[in-house]
Order: sequence, then structure tokens, then C-alpha cells
Amino acid sequence: MLTRDIDLKDAILDLLDNCVDGIQRNAPESSIESDKPYKNFRAEISFSKEGFIIKDNCGGIPIEVAQKYAFKMGRPEAANKNDAEYYTIGTYGIGMKRAIFKMGCSSQVSSQTASDSFKVTISPEWLSSDSEWDLPLEETDRWLPENGTVIEVTHLRDEIAIAFSPPQQSVLHNSLVGEISHNYSYIINKGFTVIVNGSEVPLLPLNLLADGIEQIKQNNAAAIAPFLYEAEKDGVEIKLAVGFYKDIPDGEEIDDEMKGVKNSSETSGWTVICNDRVVLYCDKSRLTGWGELTVPGHHPQFNAISGVIHFRSKGKDASKLPITTTKRGIDASSNLYLYVKEFMREGTKVFTSYTYKWKKNLEEEKTRTKQARLADPIQFFETIPKERWTQVNKRTSESRSFYKERKFTPTLPTPELSAEVGERKRKVSFSRPEKEIEMVAEYLFEDSECEPSRVGEACFEQVLKSAKK
Ligand SMILES: Nc1ncnc2c1ncn2[C@@H]1O[C@H](COP(=O)(O)OP(=O)(O)O)[C@@H](O)[C@H]1O
Ligand SMILES: [Mg+2]
Repeated sequence: MLTRDIDLKDAILDLLDNCVDGIQRNAPESSIESDKPYKNFRAEISFSKEGFIIKDNCGGIPIEVAQKYAFKMGRPEAANKNDAEYYTIGTYGIGMKRAIFKMGCSSQVSSQTASDSFKVTISPEWLSSDSEWDLPLEETDRWLPENGTVIEVTHLRDEIAIAFSPPQQSVLHNSLVGEISHNYSYIINKGFTVIVNGSEVPLLPLNLLADGIEQIKQNNAAAIAPFLYEAEKDGVEIKLAVGFYKDIPDGEEIDDEMKGVKNSSETSGWTVICNDRVVLYCDKSRLTGWGELTVPGHHPQFNAISGVIHFRSKGKDASKLPITTTKRGIDASSNLYLYVKEFMREGTKVFTSYTYKWKKNLEEEKTRTKQARLADPIQFFETIPKERWTQVNKRTSESRSFYKERKFTPTLPTPELSAEVGERKRKVSFSRPEKEIEMVAEYLFEDSECEPSRVGEACFEQVLKSAKK
């Protein structure tokens, strides 16, 4: 019963979630706010028709957790107390057992923490017995090079053995790697390494363009920067950032995309992260506010826009996170999510409007934004001075249940007025023999080495002047 409704991949991801919960308990406090708090933490998965193994160096299963509940079904209140101080995601107390039984009928779980080392063996006899309930925990010598856990599953079920052997094996491998790189992109960005059958899961970037903090600090200086919002409710911390992660696409790129020649929209859209797990990746639908109320629907011209929203919550408050019970999807009907979605839409609009405004003038836009660099938007929450943030209007009773609410709306560069009201700019370009360019350059600037584009521009200016007379 337990294993029927879960997909094999999701079962494996449950095991990976446990590794991350292990890190949350063990990462030194000082590193939590650092750039790469998960550096040096690693999980390795491998599978073949012989069996499945996952090993990690994430600190091990605390022995009291192992004795009291890790090998029982369901999560007692005591377990919640245990994790009260950590941003863990486990809540139902079934993930590990379900994953094991999904795959096979024999398993050995070995774990080593700073204080203990033990193993638990699940045998086919135990599984088929109606009277035997206890899973004995055996203390062992310390044998792992680092504190962590190894779970090995053998006696695979027939359908699992097929999925784990060629030709199916590579299909599963690819889709698992794809899913891990999406679901764990935030954690991988923070330094966590995941290896599947010997190959490292690639990192998907989550950074946004910004002109740098100095630009933003100056009053009224237009700068490229993300829109930010943060708040707290019922123990859930919310942080949202949306902006550009690359240049606004030009006409050609948009055409290619529309014709289906190229797909460059993959990393555009909204990513929702709950306790560091990605539950929605680069969504471009109404689920994240695209095409809702005054926000335009997603379109290739918005391919440079990307947003991230984080929900974080400690201990049993993790059940307040807006996620579905499978932990892999957003609960889009939760009041919490619906409320902050207003700010997702507000932020998205800042950048869709900017795109509209500059559409006719991309040349100039590109020069204006070429100073901008990719940065982790989270750093701006700390560095943007207080006076540049604005308070949020508490109009509804709902909004009064949110604390520490504030937002930052960047002052983005605007095109010169003339261009905005319809004086469209066009690009003039042509080729001439090098000798002739040098000659004109010498004539105009007494410098035959002058940049051809400057020479061309100067010629145009001169003729324009006489034309205007
Ligand atoms: N690899 C691991 N590293 C650290 N802790 C682990 C690991 N695997 C399981 N655990 C812990 O064992 C307990 C049981 O796990 P699980 O069955 O997935 O239930 P839960 O829903 O509480 O995560 C949890 O407290 C979990 O964090
Ligand atoms: Mg779990």
C-alpha cells in the first residue's frame, strides 16, 4: 500500500531530501548565511540490476532518531521536537522506509554520527513476517571516513531491476539527473554535490543581473537591479527576487523561438523554493502570476526575466510551507502563497514594462546595461540601505498577519523621452574599403587609426547638420 502511489524517482528524491535534512542539522551555524554553506557535503547514488546505494557525508542519523522513530512508520511528536531548530523538510516520517520498500526487500542502513555508529538490517524474512515488528539496531565500529549514512537496497523487485538495467537504465539516469538538477538547483548552487552513477549533477544558475550595490545606494541613480520583497508569517520567512538574468532578446531571437528553431526560454520564469528545495522550476504560467490580472502572459520577449521566491521555516512549522503533501509541488491555493503572489506579479510587471519601453531601442538598452553583472539576489537583502526599501500598505486584514514586510523597487533606466514617444531609432551600417575609411578618418580627425564606427557616425552628423539648414 505504502509504495503503490509513489513514483520511483520521487522515492529516490525522498532519500536525497533526508541527506539535506542531515546537512541542515550539521552545517556549522556560521556557514548558514555564507555563500556556499553546503560546500563539502555530498551524496552519491548508484544503481544497477544488483541493487541501489546512496551514501552521503551529511552527518548521519542521530541515534535517538534511529531508535525512536527512523525505523518506525509515522513521525511522533518527539521527532518534531528534535528538529525544532532546523530547516528540515521531512514531516510524515515515511520517506526512507517507503523508498526502501519501493525498490527491494532487503536493505542495510549504516550510519555514523559524531557520537555513534550503527546499522539496521531489513531482511526479506522480516518483511514477510506478521509477528516480527522490531528492527534491531546494532552498534558497529566506526568505519565511515566521514560522518554520514549509507543505504543499500538489494533483492530488487522485478520491475525495479528492469528499470535499473540497460536499456532502461540510461532513461532513468537521465530523467533522475534532470529532476535532481532542477529540484536541488538552489542547494547545488550553495555547494552541495550530487553524483549519480559516477556523473556529477550539473548546476543551473539562479543569479540575477545588477549594476552593483554602489549604484543602488546613490539616490535616484537609475540602475539595473532586481525587485525584492520580504516578510514573515507564522514562522515562515519569505524572500522574493525578480529581475533579468541575461540580455533582453532581440527580434531575431524572438522569431527563432516562435518558430521553434531555438529554445532559450528554459531558464526564464518563476522558481519557488521551500526550505532550499525547488518545488516549482522556471514556471511561466498563471500559477506564478503570468497572464494574471494586469501581468502579460509569458512570451519569448520576456525570456530574460527570471524570479525566485524562497519560503523557509524551522521544525514543525515546515508544515506551514505552501507545498503539496508529496513535497514536490506548490500548494497554489494556500493563503500564504496567494498573498505573496501579489508581489510576484508586481515584480514581474516592473520588468515586462521595462521590456516594452525599450523594445524599439535595444541597441541603446544593451549599452546601458552592459555594466550589469550576475549576482546572488539574496545578498541584496542585506546590503540595500534601509531608506531605499518601502513599506507595504496594510490594506487587508490578511496583510496584517505578515510581519517585517518590506519591498525594494529598483529605479531602472528609462529610454530618452524622444525615443519613448515614438521617434524610433534605427541602426545604420555599411562596409567600405579600409583605405577609404583611413582616408576619411585622417581628413576628419587627423587620425587614420580611428574606429570605423566613429568615422561613420561623424560623417552622418556632418551631413545631418547641413541637411537641417
Ligand atoms: N541520510 C540521512 N542523513 C541524516 N538523517 C537521515 C538520513 N536518512 C534518514 N534520516 C533521518 O531519519 C528520519 C526518518 O526519515 P524519513 O523516513 O524520511 O522520515 P521524515 O519524514 O521524518 O524525513 C528523519 O529524521 C530523517 O531526517
Ligand atoms: Mg525524509
